[in-house]
Amino acid sequence: MKVAVIGSGGREHAIVKKLKESSKIDELFVLPGNGGIAADATCVNIPVTDIAAIVEFIKDNGIDFAVVTPDDPLVAGMVDAINAVGVPCFGPDKKAAIIEGSKVFSKDLMKKYNIPTAAYEVFTDMDSALSYLENAPLPAVIKADGLALGKGVVIAETKDAAKDAVKSMMADKIFGDSGNQIVIEEFLTGPEVSVLAFTDGKTLVPMVSAMDHKRALDNDKGLNTGGMGTVAPNPYYNSDVAKICMDTIFMPTIKAMESEGRTFKGCLFFGLMITPNGPKVIEYNCRFGDPETQVVLPLLDSDLFDIMMACSNGTLDKVEVNFKDSAACCVIMASNGYPQKYQRGFPITVDSDIDATLYYAGAKINDGVIVSAGGRVVGVTAVADNLQNAIKKAYTATEKVHFENAYKRSDIGKRALAAIITED
Ligand code: AMP
Ligand code: GLY
Repeated sequence: MKVAVIGSGGREHAIVKKLKESSKIDELFVLPGNGGIAADATCVNIPVTDIAAIVEFIKDNGIDFAVVTPDDPLVAGMVDAINAVGVPCFGPDKKAAIIEGSKVFSKDLMKKYNIPTAAYEVFTDMDSALSYLENAPLPAVIKADGLALGKGVVIAETKDAAKDAVKSMMADKIFGDSGNQIVIEEFLTGPEVSVLAFTDGKTLVPMVSAMDHKRALDNDKGLNTGGMGTVAPNPYYNSDVAKICMDTIFMPTIKAMESEGRTFKGCLFFGLMITPNGPKVIEYNCRFGDPETQVVLPLLDSDLFDIMMACSNGTLDKVEVNFKDSAACCVIMASNGYPQKYQRGFPITVDSDIDATLYYAGAKINDGVIVSAGGRVVGVTAVADNLQNAIKKAYTATEKVHFENAYKRSDIGKRALAAIITED
């Protein structure tokens, strides 16, 4: 089998490494991939948004199966375009990817099918949004409708900050057309849990739960980033919570999508908050999370290719999906200054006795040398018998990865460990 993975980050590197374990794959391509992924698969430099060029590549090279992971091409309909040339794909089609592509769609879906989420209002004109904010509870949560590079959510503590956020989305159009409509919603509290799930549209199999660390600095301070580290499993997601989520959120969501004529196949990501009133959906993503994937897939004990194929052809109930009874921690090594200004282009060296897996994100090859090339450079993932050991092992391994200007948080997994200790 010839398989092509579309994407270029640490998430795609984790998918590639797991797919490589499958005996059914003979050749693995990544479009465009990066200089670090190049050690594991053939990287072909086509941007993820160039649907026509990717479809051409797939046709010309006799690709048997494609895996589409980033949000932009999914929402733009890349899976439909690949299926149209007769190649099966892992990922939702355009009609289903709207669950991430439009917050208004996903909020209305949850309301219609009684799926627990924050109370909300939708606004299509700025004046109504501004007058609503005169008496709205604070903090107010303001969300641009469409994709916004993960930056489309503002939590405003004051009325003025809320109004500024609305103006920047709806008048200044900082996210372009994504701000044509906005959602203003209730502020929820409680620990957050990420659950990724495989689904073929009828059967849904949750993966091991994870905890992301989105802020740039220790103790969840600083700016929001794409994610500075993850741990799995998430201790807040115990078996009681898991059952409630399955019954009130996961199955109702895939049934709702089917009823709407938008059957979802692929990986559905549930961003959950475990509120005092039970688990609620903060957001859906139509894809694997990054860096959740870098802790979830290393714990997968089954053949990822078989699972992906089954999601695509509707036979997920026939394949095994097992996870190891272990724990994983991923510490992201970033360029200092990320997510704002940072320098890149520094050689990356790795000590030979490192005991962890490296998932490259912002890396490229310059004159035969691997160098830093982005904000998030590399994810360092360790697996161990328990979370405490996984965290220790991951941090020990980060000392063996060297590049100038490297930055990492020092507290990935700390909150999760505290939660385990409190439980005991
Ligand atoms: P998102 O881009 O939808 O993942 O949102 C980014 C972050 O904003 C989430 O991870 C939450 O921490 C926070 N957030 C989003 N919606 C709410 C809400 N209704 N209440 C509290 N926090 C929220
Ligand atoms: N880690 C959250 C996301 O992938 O959007």
